[in-house]
Amino acid sequence: MNRPVMEGLRLNVPAGVRHAKLIDWVAKMAALTEAAEVHWCDGSAAEYDRLCAQLVAAGTFRKLNAELRPNSYLACSSPSDVARVEDRTFICSQNQEDAGPTNNWVAPAEMRARLETGLPDGTPALFRGCMRGRTMYVVPFSMGPLGSPIAHIGVELSDSAYVAVNMKIMTRMGAKVLDALGTDGHFVPCMHSVGAPLQPGQADVAWPCNATKYIVHYPETQEIWSYGSGYGGNALLGKKCFALRIASTMGRAASQGANGSPGWLAEHMLILGVTSPEGKKHHVAAAFPSACGKTNFAMLIPPAGLGGWKVTTIGDDIAWIKPHADGRLYAINPEAGYFGVAPGTNDKTNLNCMASLKRDVIFTNVALTDDGDVWWEGMTDEAPAHLIDWQGQDWTPELARQTGAKAAHPNSRFTVAAINNPALDPAWDDPNGVPIDAFIFGGRRSTTVPLVTEARNWTEGVYMAATMGSETTAAAAGAQGVVRRDPFAMLPFTGYNMSDYFQHWLDLGRKLESAGAAVPKIYCVNWFRKDGSGKFVWPGYGENMRVLAWIIGRVAGSAQGSENAFGVTPRHADLDWTGLDFSPSQYEQVTSLDAQAWKTELGLHAELFQQLAHRLPAALAETRRSIEQRFSR
Ligand code: OXD
Ligand code: MN
Repeated sequence: MNRPVMEGLRLNVPAGVRHAKLIDWVAKMAALTEAAEVHWCDGSAAEYDRLCAQLVAAGTFRKLNAELRPNSYLACSSPSDVARVEDRTFICSQNQEDAGPTNNWVAPAEMRARLETGLPDGTPALFRGCMRGRTMYVVPFSMGPLGSPIAHIGVELSDSAYVAVNMKIMTRMGAKVLDALGTDGHFVPCMHSVGAPLQPGQADVAWPCNATKYIVHYPETQEIWSYGSGYGGNALLGKKCFALRIASTMGRAASQGANGSPGWLAEHMLILGVTSPEGKKHHVAAAFPSACGKTNFAMLIPPAGLGGWKVTTIGDDIAWIKPHADGRLYAINPEAGYFGVAPGTNDKTNLNCMASLKRDVIFTNVALTDDGDVWWEGMTDEAPAHLIDWQGQDWTPELARQTGAKAAHPNSRFTVAAINNPALDPAWDDPNGVPIDAFIFGGRRSTTVPLVTEARNWTEGVYMAATMGSETTAAAAGAQGVVRRDPFAMLPFTGYNMSDYFQHWLDLGRKLESAGAAVPKIYCVNWFRKDGSGKFVWPGYGENMRVLAWIIGRVAGSAQGSENAFGVTPRHADLDWTGLDFSPSQYEQVTSLDAQAWKTELGLHAELFQQLAHRLPAALAETRRSIEQRFSR
């Protein structure tokens, strides 16, 4: 079907696509944005190569040396477009209270006026004519294996070819998704523009974007509208916008019906398979704030001496978790690739990741070597003698010593398919997902929070996750290194009221338990305690396997621990130290509970609860009080 929308523009709907609602929406958006062309992505390798070649011609991509890094590209963004913009991210529910105090909120009608219809004072809508001179890519994608009962479909319309090729890696994308949609299948509409229309004859820039940015979610109508940024989570709308903000509201909405369904969970979690030396396999899902080593943990290589544990990756960033008929929680990774932080990644910190990055990668904002390969801080002990930095300037180690200039942006990223990962779990693509045995929550805390603590029950586990704090990183624009509360590592990603989110977790556990199911055990971890000289005490990375082995031991009923005011923590003797010299006094430094520090910490929990007081579940305030009492004993 080729329907004229306006003079010179055809929709180019592929033969066989009969989804009237989708075609109408594409037509409406093409008319609104005045896109010069419409291209429906088929998701083929040929299309990927063609779009990459086009991006090279436009100066957005540079093809890397094919001998050193086959089939790989480097994109360098505008310095104003390097991270998620949380202060420009909005949850536009009808009632502000449903977005809650942790989200930016604007009434949907007002936001629609700004974005789609124009303001009463005559200010035109931002999306009106925003794709002039550009192609609108129709990017159909599935979050999760196509046909999985846990998966959902989205369609992103974007004027960025960079987005289209990244979505090809990050999701199951293309014609097969349109087939699965049939004539009336459900999809989440995801509208994206870099906000940089081209006038006739106007030359394009390498990284078009707009100083004005809006990352907007309408939870009730399940829509996403993103304007002004071409970068990562702002623009690859399947990831944070759909798979976390919109999906979290979908999971809770599913629990609000009359049928008593517990609903489901969309979480900022990696998913691991952990196989014991005896060959028994468990699965854990772990939440950490952005840039706290999730990808490293997801690809962990156990220390050689540790008796044959094996860790395999199911997901590195997001988990969708649904109760199964057997009463257990099953998780899928809705993504198909990794959009990971490059700096700090090397053969010692993450060998599997380095192996994944050998070919077929899109790098964003890392440095270029003189032989056409990539480099980032921490990749090698010694930096190359000369590089082109992520802003296209000459860079030398000497310059870095003098000025502190970074060759790669601290939030520089790689986009790579999951199938490149040598540690990929055979069940990573299983439509049924994998049964979760334990949830792990971890923040970046240089003090106070011990290496690992087991919650005594579901409610105390929800409390631990709800009160998690972490020192901020470069993944989001803004100050770095300040402790902020990041409940469930979901502060920037919960698409509704945080207190309702806590309640959803509490209710889900209660419903599963009252149906006789064993809920996963919950753990709080902290790899980041520092000593008096500011050095990390815990070696981290592969050595985290020792903590993971203890967790699996607890799940299996074999590992010991000792109860304290916060929960249950292993004593030095309860961990397997084979092959690592880590003394009881070092261990004390990463596990001690300082009563004074905890008094302050519990004060900060109270502050968070104050902020969330309006709908805060009573069970959480009660748990805080009993922890406080245990400490004062
Ligand atoms: C990410 C993030 O990109 O959490 O995964 O910021
Ligand atoms: Mn993330």
